[in-house]
Amino acid sequence: MPDTTKLELLEDLMARQRAIRRFMADDVDDSLVERVIRAATRAPSARNVQPWRFIVIRDRETKRQLGAIFDELGTRMYGQGAPDRTPWEEVPVLIAVCSEYAFGEGEAAMAALGASIYPGVQNLLLAAQAAGLGAVLTTRWKAQEPQLRPLLGLPETMALHAIIPIGWPDRSYGKNRRRPVGEVTYRERFGEPW
Ligand SMILES: Cc1cc2nc3c(=O)[nH]c(=O)nc-3n(C[C@H](O)[C@H](O)[C@H](O)COP(=O)(O)O)c2cc1C
Repeated sequence: MPDTTKLELLEDLMARQRAIRRFMADDVDDSLVERVIRAATRAPSARNVQPWRFIVIRDRETKRQLGAIFDELGTRMYGQGAPDRTPWEEVPVLIAVCSEYAFGEGEAAMAALGASIYPGVQNLLLAAQAAGLGAVLTTRWKAQEPQLRPLLGLPETMALHAIIPIGWPDRSYGKNRRRPVGEVTYRERFGEPW
């Protein structure tokens, strides 16, 4: 029998990785922030280009302005049903994940770019979870990206993929709920049951 001890640890970590939107006021040290970013940089990327760049945002006014854009869109999309969350200016750290357009233009290039960023984002989320931190991947602000980019000083040459609030969770969250494998997996051809 193979030793599945490490796999079990990882499985548990992944099962408990949740979208955390409410945080305690306690700060998160730069050393820990750097560590979760390092985890992100362990990810694969097409041709090992490593196109990711990270902006660590602690400035209260920048966080407030980013949060205002995020909230305005939330209200527009969900009305009063927008997820309850800590105001971004009170979240210790926001990490913006951006990149160069490393693979050129067009659909295939954009697919390669996204596929070269999100494994790193997931590594970051898992590392945060392993450290006891909470985080949530957000993209809702995309609808107002032109308004948001100057706040990050982003040049035209850079793509913006995710903004991730990070802090200590306000409470413990249980395991996530996901569809069973048998519902989303087929054998040999689409539609053939697993
Ligand atoms: C591509 C992507 C975009 C997301 N955008 C947002 C967002 O803009 N705001 C937000 O609060 N959560 C966002 N989420 C978090 C999802 O809502 C969350 O992962 C999902 O509801 C599952 O939550 P759970 O892991 O706690 O079960 C996003 C997740 C992904 C993968």
